[in-house]
Amino acid sequence: MATKRVLIVFYSFTQQTKLLLKKFAAGLESEGVDVVMERLAPKEPYNFPFKSDFALFKAMVKTFCMLRLTVKPISEECFEEYDCVVLAGPTWSYNISGPVLDFLDRHGEDVCSGRRVVPFISCRSYWRVHYWEIKRFLTRCGAKVDPVVVFTHPTKEPFRFIGLVLQLRGKMVRKEGSWFRKYYPGYGHNEAQGLLAREKGVQLAKDLLGSG
Ligand SMILES: Cc1cc2nc3c(=O)[nH]c(=O)nc-3n(C[C@H](O)[C@H](O)[C@H](O)COP(=O)(O)O)c2cc1C
Repeated sequence: MATKRVLIVFYSFTQQTKLLLKKFAAGLESEGVDVVMERLAPKEPYNFPFKSDFALFKAMVKTFCMLRLTVKPISEECFEEYDCVVLAGPTWSYNISGPVLDFLDRHGEDVCSGRRVVPFISCRSYWRVHYWEIKRFLTRCGAKVDPVVVFTHPTKEPFRFIGLVLQLRGKMVRKEGSWFRKYYPGYGHNEAQGLLAREKGVQLAKDLLGSG
């Protein structure tokens, strides 16, 4: 059987999308699918961690207004033939992140038109607006949009929100025995979600290969 090719275009600010995609790609590859990964790199990225509360607030406002973050040129490989494209990134202020928006504006049609595209989202909790928007953008580009793959941070509120802010400000509580860590074992996704991401990769591979 001829092998299938999948292009994964992604942006990741705090590495959560990237960690999940590593597992997702491993799932695809375990079934014999060829995977090409393209990381979007903003020309002027936000500092991580944010240097002040005001810098974080400013970024939140900019991202809420869907401000684009111009990305460096993408590789020629992105314009080759693929059986499926995965477009992945975090939710920023309920929406698509700035680098992915810039990618969609400038390359969305060339890379996604006529192709099966899987939106892939990593977020703290609110992903629906992000999904509606990305679906709208992709449909406009002429893509065939697959059901979304979403991962939300597995901890409970309000710790999930406090933990995100602490992480973005580089002030995460590191002390193992602290009361906060009892409720918030760590920032981002957990191991079980990594395994689920791998399983999602296997499922997509089987679907593409017609062996599901
Ligand atoms: C500027 C900014 C805005 C964010 N806004 C949201 C949001 O509106 N909803 C949400 O669920 N998560 C939000 N998050 C959290 C990220 O979506 C989440 O931490 C995600 O796992 C990060 O993925 P990454 O490490 O690949 O960048 C925001 C993060 C940043 C940096």
